[in-house]
Amino acid sequence: MHVLGIESSCDDTACAIVDDGRYLLAAERLSSASLQRQFGGVVPEVAAREHALAILPAVDGALKKAGLGRPDVDVVAVTRGPGLLGPLLVGVTFARALGAALGIPVVGVHHLEAHLYANALTAPIQFPALALIVSGGHTSLVYWRKHGDLELIGQTRDDAAGEALDKGARTMGLPYPGGPEIEKMAALVAKPPPWKLPIARGMGLDFSFSGLKTATAERWQSGSVDAATLSFALQEAVISTLIDHLELALTQYPVSHVYLAGGVTANRVLTQRAEAWGARQGVQVHCPPVELCTDNGAMVAAAGYFHWERGECLNEYAGPMTPWSLKDLKRESLTQG
Ligand code: KG4
Ligand code: ZN
Repeated sequence: MHVLGIESSCDDTACAIVDDGRYLLAAERLSSASLQRQFGGVVPEVAAREHALAILPAVDGALKKAGLGRPDVDVVAVTRGPGLLGPLLVGVTFARALGAALGIPVVGVHHLEAHLYANALTAPIQFPALALIVSGGHTSLVYWRKHGDLELIGQTRDDAAGEALDKGARTMGLPYPGGPEIEKMAALVAKPPPWKLPIARGMGLDFSFSGLKTATAERWQSGSVDAATLSFALQEAVISTLIDHLELALTQYPVSHVYLAGGVTANRVLTQRAEAWGARQGVQVHCPPVELCTDNGAMVAAAGYFHWERGECLNEYAGPMTPWSLKDLKRESLTQG
């Protein structure tokens, strides 16, 4: 079963062909990140225009790499939301047109659920599990009972973890996207500073990163710290917050498997720290391969396969959906068909 996955919720036009929700045949990604860098962040209108130009070359590029043609596609899976409306419209409209032209089903996938399925491309998901999705727009904790059954148990009340890293990097004059820059700068620090940036506590399984963003900016403006040291402190604060939340979640939802996903998971200090924490707790921590942590088409195709298996396909009137809470995932998936 060849599923073509299409992701266009932010600045990457990404496509991939995945077999049976498990096996990645080929992928193509055209990113407008270098163009967005001129603006220091993603400009929705610029991103939408770039998607419109890139989407057909990206789809055909992925098919060519897989040695397939358009008639070989059995199902189209597309990110339906949440994300930037213009970019989502390009992806969803294209997917529906391709599905109609080929006479095949089209599945609409929630972007955060898709991130989780980057893990399915390494090994079958083991349920029940806890999952932590950390991206540029979201920080969400999920109790994952089985395919299609996710319970949102914690989320950020303000900024996402990736946003704290991106804004921190911008404050220090580092390029967009800031997460990888912060990781590189932090690696230059041989001796940790004797101080820590403040982290928000006392919200149960919910997160807050806006105070950290402000504290980072204030430290930088004080002129008393260099970019490498501040990057280190910011990265440490984000990682400690995430691990503390996993630990609390595990006391409330005892499971044997924990899945990490989302762009921030590309940070290898985070994944090493999470794996070491898992070993101490006696749980297995799974992280996607680094190239599948940030937005990609394969995760959309993998997630889409399981929706298709349950008969959840987009009807002819369905458009993008944003905002779209994970809380409404089940209801909205069921009403697609
Ligand atoms: O999942 P993603 O590609 O897009 C969204 O759905 O938001 O995540 C993008 C986020 C950005 O905030 C970016 O700075 C962060 O992931 N990121 C990283 C790293 N690579 C990407 N954060 C920390 N370390 C990295 N190596
Ligand atoms: Zn994402």
